[in-house]
Formats: sequence, C-alpha cells, structure tokens
Amino acid sequence: MTQDELKKLVGIESAKYVKNGDIVGLGTGSTAYFMVEELGRRMKEEGLEITGVTTSNATTKQATELGIPLKSIDEVSHVDILIDGADEISSDFQGTKGGGAALLFEKIVASYANEIIWIVDESKMVEKLGAFPLPIEVIRYGCEQLFHLFDKKGYQPTFRINNEEKLVTDDGNYIIDLHIPTINNPIEFAKELDTYVGVVEHGLFTNMVNRVIVGSEHGVKTIEVR
Ligand code: A5P
Repeated sequence: MTQDELKKLVGIESAKYVKNGDIVGLGTGSTAYFMVEELGRRMKEEGLEITGVTTSNATTKQATELGIPLKSIDEVSHVDILIDGADEISSDFQGTKGGGAALLFEKIVASYANEIIWIVDESKMVEKLGAFPLPIEVIRYGCEQLFHLFDKKGYQPTFRINNEEKLVTDDGNYIIDLHIPTINNPIEFAKELDTYVGVVEHGLFTNMVNRVIVGSEHGVKTIEVR
C-alpha cells in the first residue's frame, strides 16, 4: 500500500467516530484531507448532519467545497471531537504538529475539544520526538533576535521558506523550525518554549490526544490513549 492509501484508510476510519449533530474540529494536512472528504461523503450519502470548525484556510476551502456547514471557534460553545494529523507521535503519545504550518489554529481548536483523535501512517510513530523539525510560530517583529537566541542555545533553527520568502502562516506570522535530534522531555521543553517573548505557539502537543489511529501494511490499529 502507498502512504497515500494508508492516509486514506485512517481518514475514513476516523470519520466513523463522528455522530449526528456533532461540532467537529477539522484538522489540516494530507491525512486530515481524507477524513474531511469522508465526512462530506457521509453528509451527502448518509444524511449526516455536523458543524465543522476548521483549523486552516486550506481546510476551510475544502470543507466549503464539500458543503460542510462551518462556524468559527468563537461561534461555538465547545467542540465535540477534533480529528487531525500529526508529524510525530512518541511512545508516550506526545506529538509534534505544524509540518503544514497550521499549528496555531490546530492547537486553539484542540484546546476546546472534548475528544481528540490523531490519524497517521505508521512512519509517524517514533520512540522519542525530534527527527521531525519542531515548528515554532513567531511574531514577525523581533523574529531575527529570537532566531539568534535559539541558535545560541544549539537548537539549530531555520526559517520556514516558501517561494524564496519566509513562509507566512494563516495568522500572518513566521515559522522557525528547530532541529533538535531528540526531545527527551517534551513537557518540560514545551514549558521552556512558552517563556520566549515573540513565540506565538509551538508544535509540541503534550498530553492532549485521546485516541490514535495508525495505518500500516497490516491494516488500521486504533489505540485508546486516555
Ligand atoms: C499542519 O500544520 C500539521 O500539524 C499537520 O496536521 C501535520 O503536519 C500532519 O500532516 P500530514 O497528514 O500531511 O502529514
């Protein structure tokens, strides 16, 4: 099976957890894409009724094209279930997200979700986080100072580039990727990152996920985390 086929498998599987009337957080990325498509199909063919809360402009466009009714995070009282991809998941179910630069809205929606499901192919399951660069969303003002600070600390920062310019996120910020081969204590490191002025949000999603759906050659495995 190709990686795309695995992503489609877990996307479809995760959509089964969505019930009629749910307010659904719609994640971002190439795996979440298949989940959003499946919800669109269920609405059309099974009469499923949901309200979506998107986590990026890209997902808003996709969901709108599928006819999924949307509300912003500020227009809902809560989110019943959020389904999203991840870049890495450690053996103790901490996650790195933001490979698609949508970490800020993803984390905001995650914060108000009663249940969070991550959908990944098995290449994302690791012992410890770190091989995937850790995205940090930063305010533009002072971003070079922050970059030097990260550099001095040995975090090997690089600005995320798009078309030879610094990539601009949906909220108008930049992304600095940190290249730290092994993040031994994501919870402590998340606390440290929260202390830097100018950091809007970081891609460490700690103690958040309730269920992980992993696709592999052997099929789909669902892991109940908490
Ligand atoms: C978006 O910023 C990310 O957090 C994605 O959820 C994550 O990068 C997973 O994306 P893929 O499913 O495309 O790998």
